[in-house]
Amino acid sequence: MPEPVRYCRRVRDGESTEQPRRSPPLPALTEPDIVARLRAAGCVFAEDEARMLVAAAPTPADLAAMVERRTGGLPLEYVIGWAEFCGLRVAVDEGVFVPRHRTEFLVDRAMALLRPGAVVLDVCCGTGAIGAALVAAIPRIQLHATDISDAAVLCARRNLAHLGARVYHGDLYTALPAPLCGAVDVMVANVPYVPSADVEMLPREARIYEAREALDGGTDGLDVLRRLAAEAVVWLAPSGHLLVETTERQAQTAVAIFSHDGLIPHVERSDELEATVIVGTRPAAPTRSAV
Ligand SMILES: C[S@@+](CC[C@H](N)C(=O)[O-])C[C@H]1O[C@@H](n2cnc3c(N)ncnc32)[C@H](O)[C@@H]1O
Repeated sequence: MPEPVRYCRRVRDGESTEQPRRSPPLPALTEPDIVARLRAAGCVFAEDEARMLVAAAPTPADLAAMVERRTGGLPLEYVIGWAEFCGLRVAVDEGVFVPRHRTEFLVDRAMALLRPGAVVLDVCCGTGAIGAALVAAIPRIQLHATDISDAAVLCARRNLAHLGARVYHGDLYTALPAPLCGAVDVMVANVPYVPSADVEMLPREARIYEAREALDGGTDGLDVLRRLAAEAVVWLAPSGHLLVETTERQAQTAVAIFSHDGLIPHVERSDELEATVIVGTRPAAPTRSAV
């Protein structure tokens, strides 16, 4: 970033000319300065964040600007431009949902069901973090991802295009190519699942800086999940699986929705990550009995 330039009026031989004069460089912020500023702004992990800001800033001027944005409340991931997820560095653009560590449990459960070469669909992909983690873990998977938000689709393409994945833009299944129908081995979906009335109670960073459509799941938080489950059997291959994240409180309702929509459901829980995942399996195609 260029140094700030101040203009001064210089008078020479009766003429005046505008000449730029450079400000003296500001003293560079030291890491202890940054820690103190972050702490004063209420950042709990001030030391870690200071280290990450120092590592991310190309110049001292950039560093000062980044510290200002962070102490002004912008989530760290938007300030530095990435989030750590399943050991990967995932690009995060402003306004796109920041991948949460809790969702690593969904990745873990999907990995347990995946075979090399499988077809994977990440619906409501956001940055594409879940798909990127699966591609990194399982050889040769064919990844498709989709999201309704323009910003998310652009960000997911940045994270996934070089992995050979296809990223589509649309409401749930609407933008998917027809050949995917009945061909998906594992579908992962971290849909918005916060009940509308609870969105106002989310931490400030989510409430203010993340898109409402990434968070708000309707009255009981399960509106998008219901629409997703209603068509899942059409997109899944026989014996294919749909995995979604919910809260523990929503789990039994989600199980009932999956059963109603022809999926065989079960609940997986990680106390360590405080994460709940509902797995729904499309029954295998009926075998033809020899007559
Ligand atoms: C909770 S975020 C999850 C993002 C990402 N999967 C992750 O775990 O980091 C939910 C995402 O769903 C997307 N979304 C919301 N409604 C959608 C819909 N009807 N169709 C497709 N995507 C939708 C939002 O744009 C947002 O990116």
